[in-house]
Amino acid sequence: MKKLVSMVLALMLVFSLVACDAKDKAKDDGKITVGVVQTNANESDWRTANTKSMNEAFAAAGFETKMVFGEGDHAKQIAQAQQLIQEEVDYLVILGLQSAGWEDVAKAAKEAGIPLIMADRELELSEDLYTAMVCSDFEAEGVKAVDWLKAQNMDTVDIVVLGGDTGSSAQLGRSKAIEEGAATNGWNIVFNQNMKGWDETLAKQAVTDLIASGKEFNVIYAENDNMARGACDAMDAAGITYGKDGDVKVIAFDANKWALEKVLAGEFNLDIECNPLHGPRLVSLIQSLEKGEKVEKNVYVEEEMFDAETITQAIVDARSY
Ligand code: AHR
Repeated sequence: MKKLVSMVLALMLVFSLVACDAKDKAKDDGKITVGVVQTNANESDWRTANTKSMNEAFAAAGFETKMVFGEGDHAKQIAQAQQLIQEEVDYLVILGLQSAGWEDVAKAAKEAGIPLIMADRELELSEDLYTAMVCSDFEAEGVKAVDWLKAQNMDTVDIVVLGGDTGSSAQLGRSKAIEEGAATNGWNIVFNQNMKGWDETLAKQAVTDLIASGKEFNVIYAENDNMARGACDAMDAAGITYGKDGDVKVIAFDANKWALEKVLAGEFNLDIECNPLHGPRLVSLIQSLEKGEKVEKNVYVEEEMFDAETITQAIVDARSY
């Protein structure tokens, strides 16, 4: 019996050594492994373009990508990030469902010597807890919309705010801008709710219910293109006109190509770009870090805005997502 136990223990030891060796070999194949904690696989057209951009750019750069999806669950994202740290990825890229609650992950990454890079959405972390940030300035995006709305010189401004995922830096920034803009300019926010998962169907239902309640409004401030489209579907069903020549102005964010076609058609009045193409930016950043070069700590992505009064087909055709 003793012989059998010692044989089993010996076999277990051999297998564990082989497994460790395989992992070490995987790390020794010279490939840079990038762990990516993404929000949701099918969150929005923006997210689809963002995921595609990272996967394509990382593959072209010869990186191994380990991408995981939180699917609306912040705690799951935290656990996924900790798991990637355990797996000793070379870089950890976080796109947070929530902007808060990342300190322990950041400390664990730092302890493990794994550079943490924020992409897309800024996280609430002190500068000593992350290596670099490549994000959008969501409040600045919202301020662009507020400035545009102010320039419309409307007698009354009754705004429907369709927010994104509660607590994401994208929702926090864009909502802060419109709420402060309304307070400063004496506008009315007649509806202000965040749609779980930036969901187009939820946005359509919310506007449908609002119309049924008899609430008057003349501005839709939708924090992404998909939710703006949902709002337009609801207005179509109720015979409410909108856009360039309609009763309701439609403001959207992301500037997906299909949405810019709607700006060109006069269905959306304004679309504020939120650029999803972080893949090449992250590759360049990681390659610089690999060479030991000093990198800029905080980079906000350059973004435009598109007005139905000035957009052209050429502008739309030139867009890459
Ligand atoms: O973080 C960017 C936001 O997340 C986009 O505006 C939205 O479409 C996406 O889902």
